[in-house]
Amino acid sequence: MSATDTLTTAPAAVAEAGDPLDEQAIRRDFPILSTEVNGRPLVYLDNAATSQKPRQVIQALVDYYEKQNSNIHRAAHTLAARATDLYEGTRTRAAAFINAPDSREIVFTRNTTEALNLVAYTWGLEHIHKGDEIIVSQMEHHSNLVPWQRLAEAREAHLKYVPLTPTHKFDVAAFTALLGPRTKLVAISHMSNVLGTIAPVQEICRLAHQAGAVVVVDGAQSAPHLPVDVQQIGCDFFAFSAHKMLGPTGVGVLWGRFELLEAMPPFLSGGSMIGQVQWQRSTWAPVPQKFEAGTPNIGDVIAFSAALDYLTAIGMERVRAHEREMTEYALHVLKEDHPDLQVYGPNDLDWRGGVVSFNMADLHPHPHDVGQLLDDQGVAIRAGQHCCGPLHLALGAPASARASFYIYNTRADVEALSHGLQLVKKTFRPRRRP
Ligand SMILES: Cc1ncc(COP(=O)(O)O)c(C=O)c1O
Repeated sequence: MSATDTLTTAPAAVAEAGDPLDEQAIRRDFPILSTEVNGRPLVYLDNAATSQKPRQVIQALVDYYEKQNSNIHRAAHTLAARATDLYEGTRTRAAAFINAPDSREIVFTRNTTEALNLVAYTWGLEHIHKGDEIIVSQMEHHSNLVPWQRLAEAREAHLKYVPLTPTHKFDVAAFTALLGPRTKLVAISHMSNVLGTIAPVQEICRLAHQAGAVVVVDGAQSAPHLPVDVQQIGCDFFAFSAHKMLGPTGVGVLWGRFELLEAMPPFLSGGSMIGQVQWQRSTWAPVPQKFEAGTPNIGDVIAFSAALDYLTAIGMERVRAHEREMTEYALHVLKEDHPDLQVYGPNDLDWRGGVVSFNMADLHPHPHDVGQLLDDQGVAIRAGQHCCGPLHLALGAPASARASFYIYNTRADVEALSHGLQLVKKTFRPRRRP
């Protein structure tokens, strides 16, 4: 039995090439979208935090525990072989999804955060030395920032920040000026989870490589929403999380160039990652097993195949086009209905994904109050710093409210958000004395 035989994952509606995505048909695949919250139909706009899961993914998880559950790469029995095939099938699919040249370059981790830490603790500790420079941008998520802060501290290296342009784009000129002979590592988010800003990663890689630096791309927000081709981007490492792209929680992917992965020491050690173990020393298994110590998250990795199949069947170009349309509509409706709203991120939709973060400039309700009042109306957004403390310092805002879109969101969802904000305003507007 091959990995592909067992999964039936096609979305309910796969349109002809070039047709827009049929979000109503897609919505029927997501059981949670028909639940009610606080007596209202759920309007889910917190996709940058985690996406909802289609029944194909839920069913793949149930099937695994009902029909395939077994440890992988070990026992000589049918179930173990079946589970191993399925687990390795996800590796092949993940490689194809980002156009990796070799599926051995796919390492399963728990999430993007662990994938980035893996690079920091292995490649980083070996290659970063006193006085070296690491470049990140001001829009980084803490997961693509704190590991580099710790690495810089451990090695007495310097962390440098690429500022945002006034229109909240990635500042290529400032980045070029920061590059120098001591630049060893550039770690950049492909798409900001607060601003929606899409970084010009191809150009960043070209410039960084000219300076002799290695480039890590944080793809937590891009892999779910944009077509990604790591060979075209030209990066050295690329990290993403299954749970933000229709898959289960507990699965992340680190892609790395084979020769880099091969030269790196292991991250965690123990079972499954060894070649031979003797009394005093051990040797390591080949890549990628060298980086997958212990029993991995087998069931969730297998169910992630269904998510990758689902997105592949729709087509990432179509996913991107739908979110672009949602973002354009949201920016338009919010501007028309709420001219007082301060919306962050670029207006240029070529450089912006489906994330809209904002503050109410005049009434100053705390974003958490905005989130709470929207939740009362069934509208789920996120409020706070979204794990981007330094970015909020740069924006001069203690926090923000954030709506983020995915394949199942509709114009009606945008309208529900705007209507909800009217009610927030009514609550916070000072009452006139009679
Ligand atoms: C840009 C970005 N990077 C990294 C992460 C971390 O992802 P995870 O929590 O799945 O490790 C997130 C999560 O929100 C993110 O948006």
